Amino acid sequence: MPVPGPGYAITVRVEAPPSASAAGDLTSAVGRVGGVITAFDIVESHTDRIVVDITCNTTSTEHVNDITQELGSLPGVTVRKVSDRTFLVHLGGKLEVHSKVALRNRDDLSRAYTPGVARICQAIAANPDDARRLTIKRNTVAVVTDGSAVLGLGNIGPAAALPVMEGKAALFKKFADVDAWPICLDTQDTEEIIRTVELLAPVYGGINLEDIAAPRCFEIEHRLREKLDIPVFHDDQHGTAIVVIAALRNALRVVGKELENCRVAVCGVGAAGSAIIRLLLRTAPADVLAVDVDGIVHTGRSDMDPNMKWIAEHTNKEGVTGSLHDALVGADVFIGVSAPNLFGAEQVRTMADDAIVFALANPDPEIDPLEAQQHAAVVATGRSDYPNQINNVLAFPGVFRGLLDAQAHEITDDMLVAAASAVADVVDGERLNASFIVPSVFDTAVAPAVAEAVRAAAERSREG
Ligand SMILES: NC(=O)c1ccc[n+]([C@@H]2O[C@H](COP(=O)([O-])OP(=O)(O)OC[C@H]3O[C@@H](n4cnc5c(N)ncnc54)[C@H](O)[C@@H]3O)[C@@H](O)[C@H]2O)c1
Repeated sequence: MPVPGPGYAITVRVEAPPSASAAGDLTSAVGRVGGVITAFDIVESHTDRIVVDITCNTTSTEHVNDITQELGSLPGVTVRKVSDRTFLVHLGGKLEVHSKVALRNRDDLSRAYTPGVARICQAIAANPDDARRLTIKRNTVAVVTDGSAVLGLGNIGPAAALPVMEGKAALFKKFADVDAWPICLDTQDTEEIIRTVELLAPVYGGINLEDIAAPRCFEIEHRLREKLDIPVFHDDQHGTAIVVIAALRNALRVVGKELENCRVAVCGVGAAGSAIIRLLLRTAPADVLAVDVDGIVHTGRSDMDPNMKWIAEHTNKEGVTGSLHDALVGADVFIGVSAPNLFGAEQVRTMADDAIVFALANPDPEIDPLEAQQHAAVVATGRSDYPNQINNVLAFPGVFRGLLDAQAHEITDDMLVAAASAVADVVDGERLNASFIVPSVFDTAVAPAVAEAVRAAAERSREG
């Protein structure tokens, strides 16, 4: 059952009689249909009426209609206006550009723009690396999407993807002071995307690919990494993998197991699942079973793309076949990045003792976390309304902060592993327990710790 939340917050402006019971009548009406009031402001008062703004959290558009109807049905009450607070936040977009230089007079102008700027251009023409010193390239990341796999919404196209990309850029700034800019491409052709990003690259110190559907995302990232001299990072793959590995490290500390002795069932072999498996195997030689919509992945399958072939060749050493339920029997860890409601408490009971269940499908996980808790020792989801939220915000801002600070030309698996360790280590032994395996997204220690780990790994990779 959905809970009223700030994602569906509204402000209803109503006109009501100025009686002693008016406030109580209005708040009771909202409460009767399940709205949660967060503010009640009288914005006008007259001898014959008051005008009130009632702000409340709701669950859906239908719920908003129920609330306004209930208010409108009170004697003498008129609903004047309903404002959706989420839409209000988005009016005109969430980003703007600020100039860092003062332009007060002709002197300022001559330095920031012509004629002075010409000498800067010449310096960069003579030494292209100076672009990282003398332009926004030093601190700027492109957030690139084709709008083909946006949140849980699917292929909604580039314009509809823009609010998400703006949000991502806002998070980059807030958590790591990285200047990120959305680039929503009006094409879903692999070659066009690669060529376009290649053409745009001179301005940026890094490329964050976002919400591009699998398997196209693998080739786009791979080819761009080959072509560009700046790091290319697909957040849906590697941001997720970093946070999952961090959470898993801490969950294993809670239950006292070592990854190399564990059987891990990973359900979902798309963007997130593939990257999780690769980073998992990079961290420790665990026994992994990958499962997708067709069951357990094995080398005997036909029609596998290069990504699936790699997964088949590096997992499932015993060549077992079967369903997700078969893969769960005896597994120490379940990691789901697939689809909602695939199993229940019964299947968790078949897992090894002290099982770890990460059910990360959004918005509805592979198993209801309350059911999973009946038999699992540690449970995590992608949701903010349960403990242990696996959220990429813990990774990508610090990762790019570190890459930009190191003026890195590439991103390596070592940097991803270092980032995962840094996220995990923010939760010290004093705070670690089954309900706290990852830090809060608002923990200000996370991004600097990740940045430092990535910067140090980049230095090592440069020296080595
Ligand atoms: N931090 C997080 O919580 C987080 C991060 C990334 C992805 N996710 C979630 O993980 C899910 C997958 O994301 P993605 O980008 O990898 O998607 P994707 O489309 O690239 O991959 C989906 C995978 O799930 C498999 N799958 C679909 N239905 C299945 C079923 N019934 N049984 C078994 N496997 C099934 C598909 O075969 C595919 O391998 C989404 O719900 C996404 O929201 C959560």
